[in-house]
Amino acid sequence: MNTPPALATLPAGIVSLADHEAHARTRLDENAWAYFSGAAADELTLAANRRSWDGLQLLPRVLQPLAGGHTRVPLLGRTLAHPILLAPVAYQRMAHPDGELATAHAAAALGAGLVLSTQASAPLEAVARIVLDEPARGPLWFQLYLQDDRGCTRELVQRAETAGYEALVLTVDAPVHGARDRERRAGFTLPAGVRAVNLAGHAPSAQPKLQPGQSALFDGLLRQAPTWEDLAWLQTQTRLPILLKGVLHADDARQAARLNLAGLVISNHGGRTLDTTPPTAAVLPRIAQALGGELPLLVDGGIRRGTDVLKALALGASAVLVGRPYVYGLANAGAVGVAHVLRLLRDELEIAMALCGCRTLEQRPSDLLWKA
Ligand SMILES: Cc1cc2nc3c(=O)[nH]c(=O)nc-3n(C[C@H](O)[C@H](O)[C@H](O)COP(=O)(O)O)c2cc1C
Repeated sequence: MNTPPALATLPAGIVSLADHEAHARTRLDENAWAYFSGAAADELTLAANRRSWDGLQLLPRVLQPLAGGHTRVPLLGRTLAHPILLAPVAYQRMAHPDGELATAHAAAALGAGLVLSTQASAPLEAVARIVLDEPARGPLWFQLYLQDDRGCTRELVQRAETAGYEALVLTVDAPVHGARDRERRAGFTLPAGVRAVNLAGHAPSAQPKLQPGQSALFDGLLRQAPTWEDLAWLQTQTRLPILLKGVLHADDARQAARLNLAGLVISNHGGRTLDTTPPTAAVLPRIAQALGGELPLLVDGGIRRGTDVLKALALGASAVLVGRPYVYGLANAGAVGVAHVLRLLRDELEIAMALCGCRTLEQRPSDLLWKA
């Protein structure tokens, strides 16, 4: 039996994800705020992600029959109550003492898919037990960073399989940290007691002594950076479906489609890796066109409104993920805050669907987006 965490109350006046963000700013210390809200370098991609969803317009339809409508969508062989998943976000105990366990309770209760980070600050088994106990739950996936030791990766994957995770989300856009200026300015460090507990005992391999003129990255850390060969190896190690997260180039998407993967997450890591990438709302339709429906596409980055969710589906996504907003909800009120963020997004999605004459997401009008 999993005991749900004690329920906090939501502060008054929070009616949108932006309100959650503003309130979380008052609750998190500088260190945690820099980590959760920051992005790489000048944070241009972070801003562009948002601007780009805002720049799309929905074209309403009137007098359409709407009774019996719903937000259900098919994904990887099952039907989801709605197309909103929680993106993998590391170290959630820095936002709230209950961390990923609170997030798991909220996701499961709201039928939202949960993608647990390799760098979670709670044991992956405990998170899985919470989610799997809830009959109305959404999918439970494990986000994988390939470790430089294949034995460690294999062990992590086996633990995830045994615990009941239903897919692996292999993140491929972060072989190295972005230049996180905001974190460096804040002197970011992980607080005592918050760590990547599922990697305990997996020490990173020792770096070689560099010769003068050698690069600490190319001749050091990146010697073991994952390649397509490592993905092929991973496929031999697991029976779980694999999605690739962090694909932006159409050629990478095509290569992934040839490899019998389960799906792609079109993502720029919320602007935290390479700054000045295109926003995901701009990339998604190109990849959808390049793949012609060969693989399910998910998208994240800057999704803050139910209208954004509808726009993403209109551009070819099967589902979306949100990152920072639910961490802000977590900081504000633990599981209640995360649940509130999910409820707001879903309510806004239903309102947007109704006003666009869209009874179900599968039968949405093809001209949902305004073309000036
Ligand atoms: C604080 C933070 C930590 C993150 N940690 C991970 C991680 O461990 N693994 C991963 O694949 N993505 C990670 N991401 C990226 C998210 O999964 C997601 O791609 C991004 O947050 C989506 O953008 P949004 O925050 O604008 O919704 C992290 C993002 C944030 C903000």
